[in-house]
Amino acid sequence: MYLFKSEKQLTPFIQKEKTAGKKIGFVPTMGALHRGHISLIEKAKAECAIVVCSIFVNPTQFNNTKDLEKYPRPIEHDMEMLLKADCTVLYLPSTDEIYPEGQPELKNYDLGYYDKVLEAAFRPGHFQGVANVVYRLLKKVNPAVLFLGQKDYQQIQIIRKMMELENLPTKIEVCEIVREASGLAMSSRNVRLSEEAWNHAAMISQTLFFLKEYRNQFSSIKALREEGIKRLKTIPDSIVEYVEVCDGETLRPTEIIIEGKPAVALVAIWVDGVRLIDNLILND
Ligand code: PAF
Repeated sequence: MYLFKSEKQLTPFIQKEKTAGKKIGFVPTMGALHRGHISLIEKAKAECAIVVCSIFVNPTQFNNTKDLEKYPRPIEHDMEMLLKADCTVLYLPSTDEIYPEGQPELKNYDLGYYDKVLEAAFRPGHFQGVANVVYRLLKKVNPAVLFLGQKDYQQIQIIRKMMELENLPTKIEVCEIVREASGLAMSSRNVRLSEEAWNHAAMISQTLFFLKEYRNQFSSIKALREEGIKRLKTIPDSIVEYVEVCDGETLRPTEIIIEGKPAVALVAIWVDGVRLIDNLILND
């Protein structure tokens, strides 16, 4: 695996491989890699001759400095995982490389409704940070395909919108959520859960799968959501931020689930001081 810490090293490599007709796949991450990330690398490997993974803990997407400070950075372990997964390149830029001269001139993207609801409502500025960093990374890596995990459902819509606004030709591939045996969606934040909280957090996916299985037995989407909230509130030391059922494309709240038109249930919840998100398509 090549380790490139600067664009100066990365660019000639990418150019050479492109000239040789190789397809470049890109998996952007903030590190603290787990099997969910590795599933993205594997999917990229199956489709692309060259797989670039970036690790960059992006300061502009943290609306809470404590969260940024506490973000895990086990770089040695990450590198071992990427080596094992046979990733071609690890791109490990410094903050200066991504945001030269100390402070980022952030673009203010018009991300429309996607930047008003759900995560955006609870994490102001978060998605502008995501859109800006992914744009900067895409300009450096210049991949044919960008691999993103369904776990960050709203982030996918945001990145799609930014790419449309920037007219970027890269294709997006969405990869399924990887879950622990308990159903808990894999996340870099899970390492911050105590063993007890980790066990309790299994209730999040259990709730989502319950909503999916019994959705037709509720009189309305409102009743379905209320059932979700009721179940999640049984988790000790938890604060439910939202349970929403939305149109899978527009993310507007849906009043009725129509077969053939994806409806997604999305959850954000604090468990034992750790903020977790999860989602599930209810009608696939
Ligand atoms: O999903 C993430 O890990 C981050 O939001 C991303 C896409 C790498 C941008 O920093």
